[in-house]
Amino acid sequence: MAADLEVHLAPSSYLAALRHDVRAGLTTEPKTLPPKYFYDARGSELFDEITRLPEYYPTRAESTILHEHADEIATLSQARTLVELGSGTSAKTRLLLRALTRAGTLHRFVPFDVDPVVLTDAAKTISTDFPLLSVEPVVGDFEEHLTLLPGGDRQLIAFLGSTIGNLEPVARGRFLRDVSSVLRPGDTFLLGTDLVKDVGRLQRAYDDSAGVTAEFNRNVLTVVNRELGADFDVTAFEHVAVWDAEHEWIEMRLRSSRDQVVHIADLDLDVRFAAGEEMRTEISAKFHPDGIADELGRVRLRVVRFWTDPDGDFGLSLATPMQ
Ligand code: SAH
Ligand code: TRP
Repeated sequence: MAADLEVHLAPSSYLAALRHDVRAGLTTEPKTLPPKYFYDARGSELFDEITRLPEYYPTRAESTILHEHADEIATLSQARTLVELGSGTSAKTRLLLRALTRAGTLHRFVPFDVDPVVLTDAAKTISTDFPLLSVEPVVGDFEEHLTLLPGGDRQLIAFLGSTIGNLEPVARGRFLRDVSSVLRPGDTFLLGTDLVKDVGRLQRAYDDSAGVTAEFNRNVLTVVNRELGADFDVTAFEHVAVWDAEHEWIEMRLRSSRDQVVHIADLDLDVRFAAGEEMRTEISAKFHPDGIADELGRVRLRVVRFWTDPDGDFGLSLATPMQ
């Protein structure tokens, strides 16, 4: 059954963080907007659409791996609690829930997300489909609230969808340190990472022909308009996705199609955009198997298994704390 939503991110602190981040990002050059604000109810819906696009291979590739190896993950982890960070609809997670239920160890599922709407929905349908499971959804920011998780109880923390690639390198290191600090001996960490590959395929995955990713990217402007009383003309910004070969990440940007001044009422701030000026909204880093093991090793997590799909597009690592 589903417990009530546990909220670590009250609307007032979400707003305070948004105000702070938008002011900081729009008053530096080049301008940036932080990615976690993509995910309001509409943003989560658009992301769900992205996962079904023909060009967006990561969701299908990760599902293939989970189909193949969920039972092995269940056997290796013996998890009693499954915590999923950035859980969204938890669609792929059902494969894990089924395997862990078959193994007979699992009794609790803790989906954790910044968007309360997608979270409430997912928790409801999962508790209907897994009636013996205690489903305990948590609204929070995985960059800040990991230490508030219940902990213990042979937990498996899953972080799927290569969402780790959306964190900047410094934030990524900090996040992995936080994960490592909440894991106890016997706990496990399951990490999904998209792998470096042909640049054309990467670019198409983030610039689909139906324009869903473009709408998703521009949705962050709608969020700022609604939450901070801004007057972004959403149609005056174009979606841009470029491969940064040095950092090995896709960079999502919004390009101002004309000279314009945007007023952000709640910040008492005017922001000027030149025609053609690009504002960075999101990175999506791509990984190499060795690099993943190194980064996990740096926070004293040892990779015990690493799987890819048959095409080698996506990687899934299962790691445990070093004693
Ligand atoms: N795990 C799903 C969804 C990935 S999309 C999948 O693999 O398909 C990323 C998810 O992380 C979204 O649901 C978004 O709301 C959530 N998210 C993004 N930033 C977050 C943050 N800082 N804290 C918590 N959740 C976050
Ligand atoms: N974690 C996803 C990824 O990096 C998020 C994502 C998919 C995304 N498409 C996007 C983020 C487009 C911003 C814009 O693949």
